[in-house]
Amino acid sequence: MTYARILATGSALPERVVTNADLEKIVDTSDEWIRTRTGIRERRIAAEGETTGDLALRAAQQALQDAGVKPSDLDMVVLGTTTPDLVFPATACLVQDRLGANGCMAFDVNAACSGFMYALGVANNFIRTGQVRRALVIGAETLTRMVDWSERESCVLFGDGAGAVVLEASDEPGIIATCLHADGGYKDLLYNPVGVSVGFTDEKNHGVRICMRGREVFKVAVKTLDALVDETLQAAHMHADQIDWLIPHQANLRIIEATAKRLGMSMDQVIVTVDKHANTSSGSVPLALDAAVRSGRVKRGQHLLLEAFGGGFTWASAMVRY
Ligand code: COA
Repeated sequence: MTYARILATGSALPERVVTNADLEKIVDTSDEWIRTRTGIRERRIAAEGETTGDLALRAAQQALQDAGVKPSDLDMVVLGTTTPDLVFPATACLVQDRLGANGCMAFDVNAACSGFMYALGVANNFIRTGQVRRALVIGAETLTRMVDWSERESCVLFGDGAGAVVLEASDEPGIIATCLHADGGYKDLLYNPVGVSVGFTDEKNHGVRICMRGREVFKVAVKTLDALVDETLQAAHMHADQIDWLIPHQANLRIIEATAKRLGMSMDQVIVTVDKHANTSSGSVPLALDAAVRSGRVKRGQHLLLEAFGGGFTWASAMVRY
């Protein structure tokens, strides 16, 4: 059996830190409200001219360097994003060229906040079937570019950032199981109303912006993630007490706590970065994974449960032996 093994991780964040106190100056909110409802204390915001591709490139370079893999050795670049640099070419193609990995397959996956988990699932299957030996998987976003800074319900929640992993085919696990799902019936709870085909202003004369029914998203997310972690354990033939670390999508600390509770895991076994990064969509899980690896918490041989939930709705997970 061939597995996809994570050789190394990388990440990149914009320099500019925006705290809750900074947001108090532009919308009617408070640090206390944001912290208690979401767990967020600050987020990073991309500089003018800094793109998703720029962040993705930095994360990828770090992961490749730590993996000891040359860009020319890659067979695949797959990038989860909902904020690509251009409509086309795919940001994966732009990053591939800047890395010098020209020639291998490269494409983006848009599954909103589940983008990295979807990209990981796709790369895993290419490696398992023997079509790909080495893959670069990236989750990268400049989500704050589509935040409406006058809407306090949503603008406090998001940030920019990127994370990456290098995968290689191995006889040893590796990614043990992945679960990918979507239900487009929930499209009206979390979406961006504009695009190439429908046009770039909506009926209210608004442009690019995140529209969200927060309370409803919250409820569906908790319920869906409960079922997802059960399904992932089953697919991996494992019990919750065999998981060393939960590395969840970083949208809201209360959602993360609910998933940990479902698994009977203490918060000491959960990687939390939402306080520092807020919700970076596709960037969130690989950023948290990289932070956990670099801080020495995640060690070789440990079992990690990665999961995400986002617009679509989409939801996806992976059980990984690191
Ligand atoms: N600052 C201060 N008050 C705010 C606020 C803000 N930034 N945003 C909303 N409020 C107010 C609301 O207007 C409401 O006031 P009201 O009671 O007078 O009507 C009150 O706070 C409570 O709002 P509610 O929506 O019930 O709060 P909540 O506990 O559900 O928390 C979210 C709101 C958005 C933090 C929460 O629902 C959430 O995290 N949902 C999921 C969002 C998400 O993760 N989306 C991405 C998924 S990938």
